[in-house]
Amino acid sequence: MTITQSESAPLVAVVGSTGIQGGSVIKALSESDKPYRIRGFTRDPTKATAEKLRKSGVEMVAIDLVLENKEDVSKAFAGADYVFLVTNFWEHMDWERELSEGKMLVDAAKAASVKGIIWSGLAHAKKISGGKYSLVGHFDSKAQVTEYGRASGVPFVDVQAGFYASNFLGNFPLIVKEPDGTYCSISFNSDFDPSARARLSSASSAKTKIAPYVLPWPVRPTTVVPLIDMDNDYGLYVRRVLELPVFPDGSVVCTTSEDIAVGEITHQLSQVSGKKIVFKQITAEDATKNFIASGIPPAITADLVEGMQFHDEFGYYGGRATTREGLAQPTRTFTEFAKGVDWNKILV
Ligand SMILES: NC(=O)c1ccc[n+]([C@@H]2O[C@H](COP(=O)([O-])OP(=O)(O)OC[C@H]3O[C@@H](n4cnc5c(N)ncnc54)[C@H](OP(=O)(O)O)[C@@H]3O)[C@@H](O)[C@H]2O)c1
Repeated sequence: MTITQSESAPLVAVVGSTGIQGGSVIKALSESDKPYRIRGFTRDPTKATAEKLRKSGVEMVAIDLVLENKEDVSKAFAGADYVFLVTNFWEHMDWERELSEGKMLVDAAKAASVKGIIWSGLAHAKKISGGKYSLVGHFDSKAQVTEYGRASGVPFVDVQAGFYASNFLGNFPLIVKEPDGTYCSISFNSDFDPSARARLSSASSAKTKIAPYVLPWPVRPTTVVPLIDMDNDYGLYVRRVLELPVFPDGSVVCTTSEDIAVGEITHQLSQVSGKKIVFKQITAEDATKNFIASGIPPAITADLVEGMQFHDEFGYYGGRATTREGLAQPTRTFTEFAKGVDWNKILV
């Protein structure tokens, strides 16, 4: 643990410190052999995560980072050398708010004359797809903040977060329980790896009773997901940016723990969990029905479904490659991540 109070160490101000992304950044910096001062923000400094960070040497600042508090926000980064910025779209599901709060954070970093901004952006789905996928608001609003940040004149690096491996554990209907006895089949593309095709076909042939768990996505089974074990690996990428000899202004970092095809995800999940889980390619219309049926509002459903279609056609990062070079330690494989989970509690 090298969190220090020494003024000779760079001060990194971390938005979202009590959350997944900011927490991972703080973990990686605290494990570095280089010393850092760290400032974290929270709306509730009495919560256990905030208290734990404070005890580990993080300067915890209580603030609500919203437009109504713009004046306080503009002072929040005073004295910081670098800032890590993230917005939490899922808390309010308002694209305009995500954009305006992201811009506000960039303005605050500029006001503090920081040496560099590290921003958690995502691909501009609408631009990259030439307008074909125009509803992926939670990607595009982050990409618009990226554009704003790049125009700010402050050195700016976009460290995009991969698809969280922990999404499979959450309250989101990613893996669904099919009624026992349901028949499912998988359609394969000709370019799908033949050995994986044989394996998955035997598990899901139309003549085989498969059940009870299905991953039904409107993507091909060959679609590659940059799956990331956020707690362990996202912060490594941010740490690499901070520890390069020169802050890599203008660069985009596409993070991953392991790039893995969706058809392979269910295979590995089955092996680790001991439960039969198959991938099922469904239509965008069926995906829409599933999300709506599970209570997701129509506009958010459209954002998610088009996001998956964008991912299938252009790649999660819109065609940019991931690289794990130069990280302080190896990233974790999906199987390693999955082995740390009690699937009996998740797949009930
Ligand atoms: N799930 C995925 O696969 C995925 C992939 C790429 C990107 N993302 C993006 O990741 C973002 C969420 O990041 P996360 O997973 O780290 O979220 P998280 O774990 O829910 O944490 C959210 C953090 O933001 C802080 N926060 C939220 N609103 C705040 C406010 N008004 N003032 C001060 N702090 C505030 C929270 O602090 P307190 O609660 O302590 O105040 C908390 O530390 C979303 O925008 C999502 O689109 C997700």
